[in-house]
Amino acid sequence: MRLRLYRHHKFLRALLLFAFALTCVVFAGHVEPVLGNTDGVTSIFRPLSQPAQEIKELSLLVLAICGAIFVVVAGLLVYAIIRFRHRAGDEASEPPQIYGSNQIETAWTVLPILIVFVLILVTSRTIADIQNRKAAPGAVHATVVGHQWWWEIRYPELGIVTANELHVPASDNSRRQPTFLKLQSADVAHSFWVPQLAGKTDVIPGRENAMWFEPTQPGTYLGNCAEYCGMQHARMLIRVIVHPPGEFERWVAEQKRAAAEPSAPEGRRVFFANSCVNCHTIRGTSAQGAFGPDLTHLMSRETLASGATPNTVETLRAWVRDPQKLKVGCLMPNMQMSDVEVDQIVSYLQTLK
Ligand code: CUA
Repeated sequence: MRLRLYRHHKFLRALLLFAFALTCVVFAGHVEPVLGNTDGVTSIFRPLSQPAQEIKELSLLVLAICGAIFVVVAGLLVYAIIRFRHRAGDEASEPPQIYGSNQIETAWTVLPILIVFVLILVTSRTIADIQNRKAAPGAVHATVVGHQWWWEIRYPELGIVTANELHVPASDNSRRQPTFLKLQSADVAHSFWVPQLAGKTDVIPGRENAMWFEPTQPGTYLGNCAEYCGMQHARMLIRVIVHPPGEFERWVAEQKRAAAEPSAPEGRRVFFANSCVNCHTIRGTSAQGAFGPDLTHLMSRETLASGATPNTVETLRAWVRDPQKLKVGCLMPNMQMSDVEVDQIVSYLQTLK
């Protein structure tokens, strides 16, 4: 009786595992929409750029091979469980005792080696393809620096610094414009991952990693820090805004402008009287801090606090009043300002378009 229960248990466990695997596969393509995403897709199974396309094809091959192995193994297991289940009268006789088979053992040694070898070959070919891609003239170069918990984005050749929202041009056949990124960290290990564009790449202190992508479809692509980096790791979102051909240049021209002379002089005064300037840069002013995001064109961004919230007057006010309330543990302190001062600073920040 106990033996039968034990077998039953094993069968149930296999069934549960199968159900779990199936659920994973089904839900892999249906991630919950994240804040403001144009279509809510952060799935490696719906790539819209190289090298994500190539990675998807490889993943499907690996999944197909593993799926076939699973079906064969699970099928044999189910067959064995049913065919050789406990029957009345089994206690009387021992089952036939078999001491191995050279043929079967050779087969199940050689076959997995061949399968693993095939997987190694196709994987290393894909990795080499992606790593050996060289930046042709016309490519956009940017440096992304991971911070706790936001992304600094620099375009050294264009003289632009921004944060959390990476703008790139779409590539088309008449004008190939891939984007090449250098990845650095200011503190701990992060990982840059925009699933529809490319594979994930670690961002490691004291080291420079590289990656590239070449989207052809304009739109907003979402990503996340993919390496646990502390309390607000989950709110370290990345947005990649892919501009239609020609529009990227317009964005660049706007970002290159220094901050305009503000129409909110009171707020400007409060901003510069506080320690805001120690951490933030506003180009064209004496604010040259480098710890926090560059605010020169703050209002051109869709979100605040690395995608934690949309960038509106209300959220900006809430953020300036107490960043710890919106994003607990973030490195911007509560400056203990009065309501009047908060309003003044917010009206100044609103001029940074
Ligand atoms: Cu940065 Cu996780």
